Amino acid sequence: MTSQIEALGYVGLEVSDFSAWRAFITDKLGVHWSAREDGTVDLRLDQYATRLRLHEGPRDDLAYTGWEVKDASALDELETRLEKSGVLVERPGIDVASDRRVNDLIRFTDPEGNIHEAFYGPLQRTNDPFVSPTGAQFKTGRQGLGHVVLSCNDKPAMLEFFLGTLGFRLSDHIRTEVVPGRPLEISFLRCNGRHHSLALAPVRIPKRIVHLMIETVTIDDVGRALDRCLSSGTHLTFTLGRHSNDEMLSFYPLTPSGFDLEYGWGGLEVDDESWHVLTHDTNSAWGHIYQRPPKPNKTETS
Ligand SMILES: [Fe+2]
Repeated sequence: MTSQIEALGYVGLEVSDFSAWRAFITDKLGVHWSAREDGTVDLRLDQYATRLRLHEGPRDDLAYTGWEVKDASALDELETRLEKSGVLVERPGIDVASDRRVNDLIRFTDPEGNIHEAFYGPLQRTNDPFVSPTGAQFKTGRQGLGHVVLSCNDKPAMLEFFLGTLGFRLSDHIRTEVVPGRPLEISFLRCNGRHHSLALAPVRIPKRIVHLMIETVTIDDVGRALDRCLSSGTHLTFTLGRHSNDEMLSFYPLTPSGFDLEYGWGGLEVDDESWHVLTHDTNSAWGHIYQRPPKPNKTETS
């Protein structure tokens, strides 16, 4: 059964240090920062009023994901589909929709308790064009804002939810040791031509999010961002490399919230008719060398 979900429309993050995030995401990565009166921040990658939303808080983690559907009927269909599968669905109403800068939305949780929203009618800012502070351009459109990788304890239950209940399509699996000494199988799911909008990683980490990926239009945007990160001493969890499955040329700077942001170019576009599920035993064709995160500064105690 096909899915009503067409793209990853927005992502909400709870972060503790706005000023560090601002320096990281604008000056180094070229994302547009737009502060709101309520103290939150809209990060823009294109004409959408918001793509990444920052809420101030201590968790430094994913707050919610927002999945875009075509229109009001598709939202109704998705709500019915979820309810038929026994999933509790909330329709928060006009105030929350206006806060999310969409026409209407529903909200539900996955088997691991991650909060998901599905919406239609995203607000467009044609009168206030997106301008990157570094001149970067981002590949979004019908492929959505990028992808998100979630940690999980029960991957079979998560796969059943996203593939079976929500109708995502499976692109492939990677069985490897992304971090040396820790073998795992990551599964990659799509809802449009982007190779994956969601990946599920069975890793036990204290965060719901493993990383968030945004994709640039030119390879030079990645190269220049890499230069800026290197010259400012930003930690790279993975060095520049090319992924085995989606062919993304990318590097992974560590965000001020302690999870990674994959900054990439050249991701594979999948044709549903001809695609078949693949298995890889390496994360990358080359590069993406793991670098241990820096230890937090220890305060001296007597
Ligand atoms: Fe990724």
